[in-house]
Amino acid sequence: MSNNSKTIFVLNGPNLNLLGKREPEIYGAQSLVDVEKLCGGFLGARGYDLDFRQSNHEGELVTWLHEAWDNSCGVCINAGAYTHTSIALHDAIRGIEVPVVELHLSNIHAREEFRHTSMIAAACIGQISGFGTASYTLALEALITHIA
Ligand code: DQA
Repeated sequence: MSNNSKTIFVLNGPNLNLLGKREPEIYGAQSLVDVEKLCGGFLGARGYDLDFRQSNHEGELVTWLHEAWDNSCGVCINAGAYTHTSIALHDAIRGIEVPVVELHLSNIHAREEFRHTSMIAAACIGQISGFGTASYTLALEALITHIA
């Protein structure tokens, strides 16, 4: 059950602070600040507030997912490389009673084999992957549609 919050958490995992500088041929030239502005504009126009965060630490992402249970109506998460390894994130997503959408800038299924497995996918309501920064707004659209 979701609460009455109109806030959506967008959580970003390891190395996403380097967005725009890191492997731009894969992840694009826009920075994480650009992505935050994109998400804020998209949500503002639809009557939602944005809480946008990034951490390189798995446990911090777990704690923020717990926080989202009381303080948001849903979460979009780009868990970065923790996508492929983290049972802790899987359990946190399963444990909270707010919908969570998994997202990736790149198409993880078209890349190295170790990226084909997502440890969090089964705990999420769905996955958006491969649309660059538009993956963020597509994930938000999917989440809002699900909530409504
Ligand atoms: C990523 C894909 C992951 O495999 C990778 O570890 C990342 C970024 C993406 O947005 O495409 O850090 O989540």
